[in-house]
Amino acid sequence: MSDPVSDEALDQIFREARTHDAWLDRPVGDDVLLRLYELMKWGPTSANLSPARILFLRTKEAKERLRPALMGGNVEKTMAAPVTAIVAHDERFFANASRLFPHFPQIADMFANSPKMAEETAFRNGTLQGAYLILAARSLGLDAGPMSGFDNAKVDAEFFASDDTKGWRSNFLVNLGHGDPAKLFPRGPRLPFEEASRLL
Ligand SMILES: Cc1cc2nc3c(=O)[nH]c(=O)nc-3n(C[C@H](O)[C@H](O)[C@H](O)COP(=O)(O)O)c2cc1C
Repeated sequence: MSDPVSDEALDQIFREARTHDAWLDRPVGDDVLLRLYELMKWGPTSANLSPARILFLRTKEAKERLRPALMGGNVEKTMAAPVTAIVAHDERFFANASRLFPHFPQIADMFANSPKMAEETAFRNGTLQGAYLILAARSLGLDAGPMSGFDNAKVDAEFFASDDTKGWRSNFLVNLGHGDPAKLFPRGPRLPFEEASRLL
């Protein structure tokens, strides 16, 4: 078995990592976004079908297209963030079964025959992959600010109407960059093990 990661790394990814609303004036290059994807893609998904699709908004013009869909309280922080990732999923994710799950590609039929199962699977695994994205960002030294306060239908109409993004459905947003630690409010507690878990 390999060694556990260091306490320092656990602090960086979990214990000391915060959700950020204020951003330092430090750009995030496309090379970093590529590295981010190259890490997050390895997180597990049902039958390896990897339904998440990520649209990285990293220009002022792209951010302005997002603005009308944002809840009031999310506008300023999103406009200020170097990058906003729209975490979406492809409702036709199972079309890739022969490539991504070659030892049993017929699994695609199960989803083709049950739109409800397909939708639940896309949402469940797309959400997981969004969480992998947050943890991957932290492991690369970035900060993240996830948000669900926005109008999904507006985002889908604005960003996912073209041929190469047809069928993508937005789930949540993640602002990415280097957060300003001076602007954080005190951290909320978490539930203790005894309250949030049961041992059987
Ligand atoms: C899926 C999700 C949606 C969230 N939506 C919003 C949002 O719309 N606006 C906002 O200001 N914060 C939002 N948050 C931020 C949470 O309030 C924050 O992550 C939580 O309080 C923990 O903060 P901490 O990481 O600093 O401890 C969201 C977080 C998650 C994971």
